[in-house]
Amino acid sequence: MNEITLHSPLDMHLHLRDEEMMKLVTPLTTETFSGAVIMPNLVPPVDNLKSLLAYRERITAAQGSDVFEPYMMLFFRQYTEAELVEAKEHILGIKLYPAGATTNSEAGVKALDAVEPTFKMMEEMGIPLMVHGETHGFVMDREKEFLASYEYLAKKFPKLQITMEHITTADAVDLMGRYENLRATVTLQHLIITLDDVAGGMLNPHLFCKPIAKRPEDREALLQAALEANPSLMFGSDSAPHPLSKKECCGCAAGVFTSPLAIARLAQLFDKHGKLDNLQAFLSDNAQRLYGITPLEKKVIVSKQAFVVPAAYEGHGQTVIPMHAGETLDWAVSSIT
Ligand code: DOR
Ligand code: ZN
Repeated sequence: MNEITLHSPLDMHLHLRDEEMMKLVTPLTTETFSGAVIMPNLVPPVDNLKSLLAYRERITAAQGSDVFEPYMMLFFRQYTEAELVEAKEHILGIKLYPAGATTNSEAGVKALDAVEPTFKMMEEMGIPLMVHGETHGFVMDREKEFLASYEYLAKKFPKLQITMEHITTADAVDLMGRYENLRATVTLQHLIITLDDVAGGMLNPHLFCKPIAKRPEDREALLQAALEANPSLMFGSDSAPHPLSKKECCGCAAGVFTSPLAIARLAQLFDKHGKLDNLQAFLSDNAQRLYGITPLEKKVIVSKQAFVVPAAYEGHGQTVIPMHAGETLDWAVSSIT
């Protein structure tokens, strides 16, 4: 196959930031994706309906005339029932960060058992829970150590839909398959790279993200699950732009910026393994079914032709370096209608 038509591709985990950075990066998603789940880790976090609706308006202003739906997320805290009732129709779910686990998560949860009343209400009201699943342990073990918490929650709240965000380990793939209410997103970079690509040779800050890329056998398990369009797995880029000055420095911020090339690179990856037929499910159908959403119609044709990834994306006084900067991909988005 030299071409594939995708219907309403979705990015189920995206950071759009705010202000000038948001103005630069938003169109780089809204051009090719039909919808995306917008992460709420702003400063201060998006943890009330008023700020969520205002943020949504800033995003839709930045997307211009693109056909695109931002699926909004609240930042997890203990909510009252009245707050959840009011928010429910405006959100896809609530994103839980363990306090201090990643960028702008200081206001996150310190102890899971203290917030169970909110989980209970979310379960009863059918509000999904999205989780950054890492402990504060040794960096390579943080996700694995968190799996027991996922399992505890999956058992204790069997009707609560729990998304294990950006999984990076074979163990997480395994756990996902064992509970009906556990599903997961996986990023582009975790299907392609291992820790060696980040720190095995010259340090590559543009591939540094949380959770950090793991071992070859982890990447293999993630890749196989994606290629076979495992029905519990969805694409979530976790595209996380930081200004150049925050990446190429001492104290590099975590995040890989992949939005503008994600679809082309995924097509190249699925083609390489002879699995292009499964890309639609991974990029849209699984998410539609798991969340019960019907995205806006958008037809994206991806073709086997050269695409030179820009060395940088610049505008609004911002500079962001994408993954594969300056490299030539074999696949390109060739038409969007
Ligand atoms: O690498 C990451 N960057 N991981 C996250 O969980 C957050 C994100 C960000 O917001 O920069
Ligand atoms: Zn994220």
